[in-house]
Amino acid sequence: MIFISNKTPKIFGVFLLVYFFSLSGFSQSLYDNDLLTKEFHSGRREALRKLMDDSSVAVFFSGIIKTRSNDVDYEFHQDPNFYYLTGLNESNAILLIFKNEFILSDGSPTNEILFLQDRNPKMERWTGKLLGVDGTKSILGIQNAATSDAFDDFKIQFNSFKKVNYIEQKHAGYNLYYEQFQSKLSNAKINADTYSLKEYMAKLREIKLKEELDLVRKAISITCDGIKEAMKAIEPGMHEYDAEAIVEYVFKSKGAEDVGYPSIVGGGENSCILHYESNRKKLVEMDMLVSDVGAEYHGYSADVTRTYPVNGKFSEEQKLIYNIVYDAQAAGIAKCKPGEDFRAPHKAATEVVQKRLMELGIIKTPSESMKYFFHGTSHYLGLDVHDEGTHGRLQPNSVITVEPGIYIPFGSDCDEKWWGIGIRIEDDVLITETEPEVLSACVPKTVDEIEALMKQESLFNLMKK
Ligand code: GLY
Ligand code: MN
Ligand code: MN
Repeated sequence: MIFISNKTPKIFGVFLLVYFFSLSGFSQSLYDNDLLTKEFHSGRREALRKLMDDSSVAVFFSGIIKTRSNDVDYEFHQDPNFYYLTGLNESNAILLIFKNEFILSDGSPTNEILFLQDRNPKMERWTGKLLGVDGTKSILGIQNAATSDAFDDFKIQFNSFKKVNYIEQKHAGYNLYYEQFQSKLSNAKINADTYSLKEYMAKLREIKLKEELDLVRKAISITCDGIKEAMKAIEPGMHEYDAEAIVEYVFKSKGAEDVGYPSIVGGGENSCILHYESNRKKLVEMDMLVSDVGAEYHGYSADVTRTYPVNGKFSEEQKLIYNIVYDAQAAGIAKCKPGEDFRAPHKAATEVVQKRLMELGIIKTPSESMKYFFHGTSHYLGLDVHDEGTHGRLQPNSVITVEPGIYIPFGSDCDEKWWGIGIRIEDDVLITETEPEVLSACVPKTVDEIEALMKQESLFNLMKK
């Protein structure tokens, strides 16, 4: 390991930082050869077709470009169903999947068609390359493609289908093609089904294929590295945003395109706010820091939380609450087995929290635990951080989080020695045929492991102001 004293010049430290991360494989490009293949996407379209009723059509809409303010847009994020079925990363596209053969106006049969933006060299100089119809055929392997402009004139009688499946779009006003679809559909509303497609997609997306699991594992491994680096670097006097910046630096430099959700990095009283995202506070000696972060890699998100003492050493009170959450999580993870009800991990974790908070005198009855543990313990994880799934019995090859927490804000109805302690521990767990596999075990979790890691030197300490 490279040791750097406090006197090492900063510029040298930054150089070493870049060198260190490039050595450890940090400088990957988005153009890595591990994107989902066209065979994956066509296989998913075929799997959907199998779930659809006879004589039905399913219609999907790509994500839309949302205005942030004036002429600045939010970064585009593809609709996860659209990405899952096509691999296309562009807006203004429509996908039609037919259960049975559909005859196009030139007489040729198809069972799917993709409408997407036409190539436009002038516009591409401003906002980047588009795939176009030819690219769709060669790169996405979708043989029937047309430009989005052709959708309005596309000859299709929706009322000739027994069912027209689609998912209602929340931001309809922004989506010209959704409006065109709605007007084509107006004669056929009787056949419209806005419910089943969600169910079909939940069924498919809940069970991950091997190539999806590879991407989930990669997102989680990057996330572990980010959290570990922040754990080593953080100390009193730094800010929540320093931890956020370190974590996200590692994400980007390891090839993650994005975060799966805004990083939640809350110290002290902010550790008690579930989805705290402003991350501005200066961290002080006795603060616990909840760090709930997830890299997004090729569309798939991680979601990992660790809580650690800013000064590197748990106080007695912090340790007591931490170990309740730790044991509650272990009880939840033990329930991550095929055939268990989706809510079984929550039930197991809640029982531990109730019993142990009563033992400490923080609550008097089990139901009072809701004051301090007020959220669910699990959700599916995948293309969405809160991914689609059936919420029935747990099934092999699905990934869920197990994330109990205890949050005791200032002014709570208990001894004030507990006030300001907020703790969540979150892992991503693969359901297998046998024992659960904790995919995020790569980041320390016990009190001793965390304290030992926090003693290590971080190269980011060199960048301190
Ligand atoms: N990161 C949000 C959640 O844990 O659900
Ligand atoms: Mn989380
Ligand atoms: Mn979560």
